[in-house]
Amino acid sequence: MTKVPAVTLNDGFQMPKVGLGTFAVRGGQGVNQIVAAIKDGYRSLDTATNYDNEGAVGEAIRRSGVARADLFVTSKLPGKYHRYADATMAIQESLYRMGLDYFDLFLIHWPLPKRDHYVEAWQAMIDAQKRGLIRSIGVSNFEPDHLDRLITETGVTPAVNQLEVHPYWAQERMVAADQQRGIVTEAWSPLGRGSAALKEPLIKELAAKYGKNVGQIILRWHEERGVVPIPKARHLDHQRANLDLFDFTLTPDEVAAITDLSRPDGRIDNQDPNEYEEFD
Ligand SMILES: NC(=O)c1ccc[n+]([C@@H]2O[C@H](COP(=O)([O-])OP(=O)(O)OC[C@H]3O[C@@H](n4cnc5c(N)ncnc54)[C@H](OP(=O)(O)O)[C@@H]3O)[C@@H](O)[C@H]2O)c1
Repeated sequence: MTKVPAVTLNDGFQMPKVGLGTFAVRGGQGVNQIVAAIKDGYRSLDTATNYDNEGAVGEAIRRSGVARADLFVTSKLPGKYHRYADATMAIQESLYRMGLDYFDLFLIHWPLPKRDHYVEAWQAMIDAQKRGLIRSIGVSNFEPDHLDRLITETGVTPAVNQLEVHPYWAQERMVAADQQRGIVTEAWSPLGRGSAALKEPLIKELAAKYGKNVGQIILRWHEERGVVPIPKARHLDHQRANLDLFDFTLTPDEVAAITDLSRPDGRIDNQDPNEYEEFD
């Protein structure tokens, strides 16, 4: 079983340097895939209320036989629950669905700046943290001005900002903005959701050079940039490979060359955090 190293967050808690994405991993088949991942060494699991699978992830945790204290469980607050009272209730309902009594990490899924209730949601998360329902609190898809409003208005800096990051959307500006504020960047769709990036000649060349597969080269690129990827893999060979990233390094030039694959229109679904209104 692979042991994954951890990064220390700005609140002192530790987060594994690779997590398992679970979007669209649901039902009995999903539970089996997640149990297999935990048995292979995954300790960090990323779900969200909007994935409709908090139940499956909770069930997989119970069936895995791994102690709750050894797992790092993340879920996310949906946009329709940004009001303080709604957010407070939604955190508890997420825990009930999962059968857990605390989250290691809870994120505001999207800022929805046009609705402009994300500071209220943040205050509800700060208070839930004080009550012991959440260990680390963070955000997802937040731009620098959104981060700065949270920090200025509440005095509490997010521990994590989970963002779309992959070779076609390298986000140099946002990775630097998080670093400047002491926030760890997590990468969603770190493999570009299985896109053409996996077929890039440069990535294939590096895979041949290091005796790794293309997915491992991209995940190692995240690690070299201080970004924590949460790849989703339903296939067991992918799951296992995506943990096996810590026995080789890329050179700074190779990291820069992968970053250079980034494109101005590189987002997978053109989801601009200033415009995107999530799922409702
Ligand atoms: N915060 C947000 O707004 C947000 C948005 C989107 C996603 N997320 C999170 O991020 C997670 C990951 O993103 P994602 O699921 O969109 O995409 P992803 O992890 O970039 O890509 C998943 C795809 O890559 C394939 N794959 C996995 N490992 C591979 C490897 N080593 N070699 C080749 N192909 C490989 C998978 O195939 P198989 O399944 O067949 O193995 C699957 O088709 C989600 O599951 C979710 O937890 C968060």
